[in-house]
Amino acid sequence: MFGFFSFKGKQSTKSQDIAQNNKHLITMQDVVKIYSGAAGEFMALNGINLEVERGEFVSVVGKSGSGKSTLINMLTGIDRPTRGTVHVGSTAVHTLSEGQMALWRGIDMGIVFQFFQLLPTLTIVENVMLPMDFADKYSFAEREGRALKLLEQVDVSEHAYKLPTAISGGQQQRVAIARALANDPPIVVADEPTGNLDSKTTGTILELFNKLVDSNKTIVMVTHDNDLAKEGTRLISIADGEIANDVRLK
Ligand SMILES: Nc1ncnc2c1ncn2[C@@H]1O[C@H](COP(=O)(O)OP(=O)(O)O)[C@@H](O)[C@H]1O
Ligand SMILES: [Mg+2]
Repeated sequence: MFGFFSFKGKQSTKSQDIAQNNKHLITMQDVVKIYSGAAGEFMALNGINLEVERGEFVSVVGKSGSGKSTLINMLTGIDRPTRGTVHVGSTAVHTLSEGQMALWRGIDMGIVFQFFQLLPTLTIVENVMLPMDFADKYSFAEREGRALKLLEQVDVSEHAYKLPTAISGGQQQRVAIARALANDPPIVVADEPTGNLDSKTTGTILELFNKLVDSNKTIVMVTHDNDLAKEGTRLISIADGEIANDVRLK
């Protein structure tokens, strides 16, 4: 899409200079997030420094309220840091306008949520095609075929023309993963993707993520499931908005 290329061209010289010196896929520098509300200010992230390389499978754990979702929202550009910088590849995420952000996210980030968030009035294959319609990276003619192929990869293709309510929660989450992969993003970010699934279904989601990592995708996954967290290549613990622990597992 014309808009996509033009927004890349519009990035400031300053952020491009930073990006060119940045050899990591993801770099967060001194990220602070302060929420202000009626009750006053709350520091949800307190100086996060994080570098992630391509092909890593990063699990993020921490107590409820420790800042995991806030961290993920900084990474995906769903929300902005109060201070600090977030670079993903050559993109200075914290500098993008709302419109640029939506387009960038639609192409470069696959996002999976706990409650799948499939559109209930669209068929499964239409749900997977939606990000392609939005980003315009794949031609109109190839979208349905590509969506069906992705559904095959997550083993839900036989339900492609049903509505989401006709399939199980585990199947819906696999559809959500197929949707996240619609525009072939280098990074998949998942916030409690198995929080609503039984352990057998959790296993199939993990298998899928491992396959993605094998194909050189990068995964950042928040989970409260410690056994699941240990399956990644790296384990980061968040406590009170800070990285309390960061260990390589494989
Ligand atoms: N939009 C918001 N406004 C005010 N406080 C928020 C907002 N979102 C999250 N918080 C607070 O920030 C802290 C971290 O939240 P969150 O990142 O959602 O934690 P986690 O995902 O680890 O459970 C919590 O104390 C939460 O109440
Ligand atoms: Mg959360």
